[in-house]
Amino acid sequence: MSRQERYNGIYRQVASLIDGEDDLIANMANIASIVHETFGFWWTGFYIVKGESLVLGPFQGPVACTRIPFGKGVCGTAWKLRETVVVPDVEEFPGHIACSSLSRSEIVVPVFKSNGEVGAVLDIDSKDLSAFNETDKVNLERIVALIRLQES
Ligand code: SME
Repeated sequence: MSRQERYNGIYRQVASLIDGEDDLIANMANIASIVHETFGFWWTGFYIVKGESLVLGPFQGPVACTRIPFGKGVCGTAWKLRETVVVPDVEEFPGHIACSSLSRSEIVVPVFKSNGEVGAVLDIDSKDLSAFNETDKVNLERIVALIRLQES
């Protein structure tokens, strides 16, 4: 199965899981699990905007940093830029926050609230270099758009 076909399956599965369920943590937990299990990534999870920080949310994988300030690391940069950040080699990204020394490449996708603010980010790490491309970006953006974030 191609990567695109796998993402099509994930999208359908997430859409049906979220349908009728408005609990944010439950939905994020299932999305992290589906993406992680489908591709066998090293770490897959959410950070949720709380004040001036991103705070660790539902995830799959090893223990991770709990709080990331606005503009810091790949996650804080995606929040600040309000766009997906793909990092082919984390050692080449100034300010990368190494929660795990085994992580080699990373993608961070913002999750937007209905008022346009970033309310969370989806962060995925791989043990391989250059693990993420435009297919991941487009599909993950489509998947996280299914999440309905509260305004507050
Ligand atoms: N590497 C991220 C921090 C989160 S962990 O990878 C799970 C960053 O630089 O923002």
